[in-house]
Amino acid sequence: MKVGLVQLAPVLGNPQATLAAIDRLLAGVALPELLVLPELCNSGYNFTSMQQARDLAEPIGDSAFLDHLQRICSRGGCRIVCGFNELADNQLYNTAVLLGPDGVIGKYRKLHLFLNEKDYFQPGDLGLPVFDLGCCRVGLLICFDWFFPEVWRILALKGADIICHPANLVLPGLAQRGVEVHAMTNRVFVILANRTGREGDLAFTGLSRIVDPRGDVLASAAAQQEQVLIADIDVGKARAKHITPRNHVLDDRRPAEYRLLAELHEQKKAE
Ligand code: ACM
Repeated sequence: MKVGLVQLAPVLGNPQATLAAIDRLLAGVALPELLVLPELCNSGYNFTSMQQARDLAEPIGDSAFLDHLQRICSRGGCRIVCGFNELADNQLYNTAVLLGPDGVIGKYRKLHLFLNEKDYFQPGDLGLPVFDLGCCRVGLLICFDWFFPEVWRILALKGADIICHPANLVLPGLAQRGVEVHAMTNRVFVILANRTGREGDLAFTGLSRIVDPRGDVLASAAAQQEQVLIADIDVGKARAKHITPRNHVLDDRRPAEYRLLAELHEQKKAE
């Protein structure tokens, strides 16, 4: 199947301009079956106040931004994953929405909030869902989630073939290396759709990439260019979890030994 991403600089407070940039970048492109856009695409990232974050949030069921993306899905017969500033029950969530031609298929709310996000967003409360699209099973992570190996493992154990990873990365070069390792150790495809540009004191790092289950980069973007990447993938490679005839990346695990993870965490909190 064909998968892809759009690397661009969403415009803080101007979703129309962001949609115009997405349309311009996708003009003439044969749309892949699954396309990933960066984190917080409908709002921008570096809010200066809670009021601004709130003014730029939308409910998933009432979003002109998502309606526009759904029209792209209908036109191209594709699915889109988009980072979204979500307003729900009077709270904000840093969310990734999975859309298809018929509307919203599912969503994930970011578990690990980064820096000032902690001032604006509630931590995710929907766990780590995996969506079966028929052609593949998709898991979702958002930006700083990449730092926590546990979430990649859980998505792999839940059967994800492809992890879609909208991002607004600011720590130069780290996540781009990290996702290659997480792809390799979990034998999954990763579509890291990062953004470019600056907002206030933050410079975003681009270098979006599509990585295969060996950790090899199938396509990569430049640091500061708006661009579309497409790659042809064989989903079966994510389901071949043997690394030798006698070693399986999931079945060889020793979960009884890993119970310490939770125990040590509790101990540390109590200290
Ligand atoms: C990030 O989580 N947006 C760095």
